[in-house]
Amino acid sequence: MKIELAPSILASNFAQLGSDAQQAIEGGGTILHVDVMDGHFVPNITLGPPLVKSLRKVAKVPLDCHLMIENPDLFVPEFADAGADWISVHQEATVHLDRTLHLISSHGCKPGVVINPATPVEMLTEVLDLVHHVLVMSVNPGFGGQKFIPNALNKIAALARLRAERKLDFRIEVDGGVDLETVADVVKAGAELLVAGSAVFGHGDIRGNAAKLLEAARAAVLTRA
Ligand code: DX5
Ligand code: ZN
Repeated sequence: MKIELAPSILASNFAQLGSDAQQAIEGGGTILHVDVMDGHFVPNITLGPPLVKSLRKVAKVPLDCHLMIENPDLFVPEFADAGADWISVHQEATVHLDRTLHLISSHGCKPGVVINPATPVEMLTEVLDLVHHVLVMSVNPGFGGQKFIPNALNKIAALARLRAERKLDFRIEVDGGVDLETVADVVKAGAELLVAGSAVFGHGDIRGNAAKLLEAARAAVLTRA
């Protein structure tokens, strides 16, 4: 599957979001990852549909909205109207996951499911055929700039095995602590959608940071078993 970089705008300078996002795309980002936090499911508050709507006007790539919120069903229509292309919800925050994934599809968006570091892959067995992507959190959600949790690698590999066994085609995304040190390991484990915030926007040249990360990821594909 194709390796893609999804820069997470959470680490960008919101006062110049359009320009920061554009630089990340010029560096090779093909998806923009948008972290939505509600102060309940996670201990932080970020952004909502109005920002997605503004970003939609300037960004030509898919907007990957990662909802770290309780009761996501209440907000799916608004995010879809604002221009979200992909919407993912946390397994831990969603009581009727099957229903929520269908709701996302019914609004014309690609449905994804996310699992926290403490949630086993087995919790997703019954929905793997419904999702466009599975997002494996490699940090506890809520903040950018945290350290990568290595057990995420086992979960990525387990998902890749399950996908092959069941002949499914969902994509495997990883989020949290992905940088030049960890990117080769996540790619070797089987991840193909790479979310990166601090490693892209956190220092220096955004375009160059994105390009280097993607280059390292592509080099790691060649060493995959
Ligand atoms: C964390 C968010 C991430 C975050 C990643 O809750 O879901 O998308 O922006 O940031 P880094 O790449 O800095 O770990
Ligand atoms: Zn995220």
